Amino acid sequence: MKLWTGRFSKEIDKRTNDFNSSISFDSRMFREDIDGSIAHATMLSECGIISAQDRKQIVAGLTTIKEEIISGQLPIDMESEDIHTFIEGELTRRIGDAGKRLHTARSRNDQVALDIRMYLKKECDEITAQLRELIGVIANKAEMYKSVTMCGYTHLQRAQPITFGHHLMAYAQMLMRDLGRIEDAKKRMDVLPLGSCALAGTTYPLNRERTAELLGFADVCDNSLDGVSDRDFCLELASALSIIMVHLSRFSEEIILWCSWEFKFIELDDAFSTGSSIMPQKKNPDIAELVRGKSGRVFGDLMGLLTAMKGIALAYNKDMQEDKEAIFDAVDTVKMCLYAFTPMLDTMKILPQNMRKAAAGGFINATDCADYLVGKGLPFRDAYKATGELVAKCIEKNETLETLPIEEYKAVCDLFDTDVYTAISLEKCVGDRKVRGGPAPESVQYQVDKVRKIMEDM
Ligand code: ARG
Repeated sequence: MKLWTGRFSKEIDKRTNDFNSSISFDSRMFREDIDGSIAHATMLSECGIISAQDRKQIVAGLTTIKEEIISGQLPIDMESEDIHTFIEGELTRRIGDAGKRLHTARSRNDQVALDIRMYLKKECDEITAQLRELIGVIANKAEMYKSVTMCGYTHLQRAQPITFGHHLMAYAQMLMRDLGRIEDAKKRMDVLPLGSCALAGTTYPLNRERTAELLGFADVCDNSLDGVSDRDFCLELASALSIIMVHLSRFSEEIILWCSWEFKFIELDDAFSTGSSIMPQKKNPDIAELVRGKSGRVFGDLMGLLTAMKGIALAYNKDMQEDKEAIFDAVDTVKMCLYAFTPMLDTMKILPQNMRKAAAGGFINATDCADYLVGKGLPFRDAYKATGELVAKCIEKNETLETLPIEEYKAVCDLFDTDVYTAISLEKCVGDRKVRGGPAPESVQYQVDKVRKIMEDM
């Protein structure tokens, strides 16, 4: 069925319909479309625009259609132009004139804007729940390994001692910001466009606030042109999702490194790894690699959305139909990634001895060695130089700062004494970094407690 018969004297060409149709990807919004229509019909009858009898038939008809689609009894006709057309057509087929009154004071332009907002609001809640779960897993692991000494890197070169808990909590901080961004995007999504109609509102005395109340929207849009042509909420959500993917991708990259034989800081659970069809020894971090790879799709979705929107004159244009595949793909991809990533992280085995070993071999206590001399009164630049000489000496003699004899220390600077070995012990170096935001076990615990508390209060 076509909604716009009357003006046209010919049937639509199949190729036009195939090209124009959005039902293959907008049918997933059938619940929102039906709930939106029920609220619209309820409001229309309350305002005396349609009769109570029509409203009753519409609500009953739509409720049954929804149940039948869910149970599979009513297959969605893929020849329809879109989900709105299909549902209105099916309703009218069942209840006649009352069905034809549903679209009073409405256009598919405000209808589709409503459906996407409703659909994405729910998706935001699901993603929020998934993010919270992941942050919870990270916080538990960080608490468990808050005292495990690990090497911190810059330029992927061994830099200074940290704890594994601290390293993990850096990701929790990123994901907390992601939670905030999703929450924020949802706020601006939570505005009812229905009542904007095609572009210019309507002469019918609608009660838009009532529709908003029925559908649980916090506000009503104040400009009909903006109401039908705004897709900022898709752009914002896609941006927030892209940033989530940046974080998951960076985390994945580290996991891939950490489970390589070169690092061996962790081992992934067998159930969350994959093998090779030819190399019997292989155990691959496919989940992490795929998450890293899928970040590109989500960024692509964001680019597609931005580009589709940038040149559109007000108000609705068909270009905007392109919004759905992009934003749905971004949402689906992020959800899928979190679905696999969280249990992979939760089940991974940590190998603290290997982390400790890597931390001991890289002169990562050199800054602390210099600070020791500063404590004895030497200016930092001189202390830095003396320690540099010591490192060079160690490399030459195949020693570490821990194993280099005290005579060698004294030969470089006579301020050195045997207490230097305590000063440069990794556990002390990391344990003394208690400054707020530092890697000491207490500081990690503070972060864990704070993140848990914020999530509890949310
Ligand atoms: N399928 C359309 C979309 O997704 C629905 C709105 C159609 N409006 C119109 N004026 N053709 O954008």
